[in-house]
Amino acid sequence: MTPILTVEGLDKGFVLHGQGGLALQVMQALSLELHAAECLVLAGRSGIGKSTLLKILYGNYLAGEGDIRLHFDDGTLSLAALPAHAWHSLRRDVIGYVSQFLRVVPRVSAREVVMEPLLARGADAHEASVRAETLLARLNLPERLWSLPPGTFSGGEQQRVNIARGFIGEHPLLLLDEPTASLDAANRAVVVELIHEAKARGAAMLGIFHDEDVRERVADRLLPLEAFMAPSLASPTPSSPSRGLAHD
Ligand SMILES: Nc1ncnc2c1ncn2[C@@H]1O[C@H](COP(=O)(O)OP(=O)(O)O)[C@@H](O)[C@H]1O
Ligand SMILES: [Mg+2]
Repeated sequence: MTPILTVEGLDKGFVLHGQGGLALQVMQALSLELHAAECLVLAGRSGIGKSTLLKILYGNYLAGEGDIRLHFDDGTLSLAALPAHAWHSLRRDVIGYVSQFLRVVPRVSAREVVMEPLLARGADAHEASVRAETLLARLNLPERLWSLPPGTFSGGEQQRVNIARGFIGEHPLLLLDEPTASLDAANRAVVVELIHEAKARGAAMLGIFHDEDVRERVADRLLPLEAFMAPSLASPTPSSPSRGLAHD
């Protein structure tokens, strides 16, 4: 079976301009294949590059060397050097992302935050609203919060809005960055259900889950990132003394 996503020989480093141009190499020669209807879980210690990989795949970070390709029925799309407008439609139609933290926009209600991915595709507003409310109810977000902007919500409440927004669009490829990190057991179980439902409709998922129990219930395979760690995590430029590295 053709994979939906292939990554080959991906390198990624950062130049820390605030630290005298210190170069931080994060990953080297990372390769993976992701198929429809599977959930591949990124494993490895904090700071190894799990979130960085998801951000590269969502176009938030530029990739270094390497090849990232999406495979469609009618051809292949290389994500390196993709123009900005192409990222826009890719995120609307193909790649969904549940980031670690909700990006809060003032005055936009929780319901509207969740509806937005459907409205962006031209869905009917009433239908989008009904689907948003169904998801928010499943995630046990109290109904009195639906019409309020999530800015003042607790971390767990914001995360549930973020999860509803990530799953509503039923993208064929979903990137999940610790979606259960700040949730209680009941809501973690709802997220596990959502992941199983996404798999059942054929979605491919690449996820990060610290919770052992969640990981066991959703992972079809694990990808330990240690194997792709850069040999020296930092190489200071000659003019700058070595200083503490950034951590997440
Ligand atoms: N925008 C950035 N600028 C500089 N360094 C970064 C940036 N994003 C991540 N890093 C560094 O890359 C490494 C990997 O980070 P991250 O992908 O967040 O790790 P993980 O998600 O596995 O905990 C860390 O050392 C982190 O400090
Ligand atoms: Mg992370």
